[in-house]
Amino acid sequence: QRFVKPLTVALCLTAAAVTSSLAQAATFRVAVGDGAGSAQHALGLKFAEEFKAKTGGKHDTKLFLNGQLGDEQATVNDASMGLLDFSILAINNVTPFSPTVGVLTLPYMMQSLDDAVKLTQGEVGKELTENTIRDAGVRIVGWTYTGFRVLTNSKHPVNSLQDLQDLKIRVPQNEIMIDTYRAWGINPTPMAWSETFTGLQLGVVDGQDNPYLTIYSMKFDEVQKYITDIRYLFSIEPLVVSEAVYQSQPADVQQAILEAGKAATEHSAKWLVEQEDKIKAELTSKGMEITTPADGEKEWMDKAVEQVWPKYYEQLGGKEKLNEILTSLGRDTI
Ligand code: MLT
Repeated sequence: QRFVKPLTVALCLTAAAVTSSLAQAATFRVAVGDGAGSAQHALGLKFAEEFKAKTGGKHDTKLFLNGQLGDEQATVNDASMGLLDFSILAINNVTPFSPTVGVLTLPYMMQSLDDAVKLTQGEVGKELTENTIRDAGVRIVGWTYTGFRVLTNSKHPVNSLQDLQDLKIRVPQNEIMIDTYRAWGINPTPMAWSETFTGLQLGVVDGQDNPYLTIYSMKFDEVQKYITDIRYLFSIEPLVVSEAVYQSQPADVQQAILEAGKAATEHSAKWLVEQEDKIKAELTSKGMEITTPADGEKEWMDKAVEQVWPKYYEQLGGKEKLNEILTSLGRDTI
């Protein structure tokens, strides 16, 4: 278990957080898992701009891109202990620390940008934020909407589950995603995000899944050729603040963090719509080939929903809870 209990948190505040609590001008550090031009970067830039403006220029933020401050899962640990102020990371890398967040990585739960916005901005989002503070010592203050995770590989086009069977696929350390690939008939390779580019380059793994925007900003076109446009997971990526750091701030700075996070979230949804088609075309012009599953993804969906969902009912708050969420999205219950 990588997570350090919140009780330890208060005891581990860093000099940075203590300085902030004195309400002097401070520069807050923001870990960003992805590179320049990513959805995470766009969210971070907008947050930085708004936060500075809302504190009347007193406080600043500095973004550290490409996992410079550590792998995404490690940044949750660091923030929980108050060793790091903010992190922007994929939701799948928060789930190991706060299991109920897994509802956002349940295959085929979110089927559109609209679903993602509804879930994150409504009651579900509010509840998950509270759970994440309790379980992981971090507070979600903003979201990126990064688009569906699509499958890439270096070997051959994948049009069916049959085509997937000879591929070694990297997945995050996320049980639900591991089980999804198992339902599809293969044993995927869990690997930290910070090691994924090299893993693909060296052929340790043949493929992985992530949104178009992430594939482009991480230059995966240099080590991957084929894209299968699956829609099993709509990627959303929270901006989290260390709860210890947040609680050490005066009320006006806390307010500025929340407001800047909200403004950055609104910006992110617009940014995705503007960027995704452009990025898709760019990836094609760089030589990547895009296909869609021949059966309209029916077999993928049936297998994932039948085999993965029941295994997680309990962890996600029970079947009734999932039915409430499905109803709020206007979908059939299970
Ligand atoms: C992952 O696959 O671990 C994440 O989606 C990477 C990211 O943060 O973009």
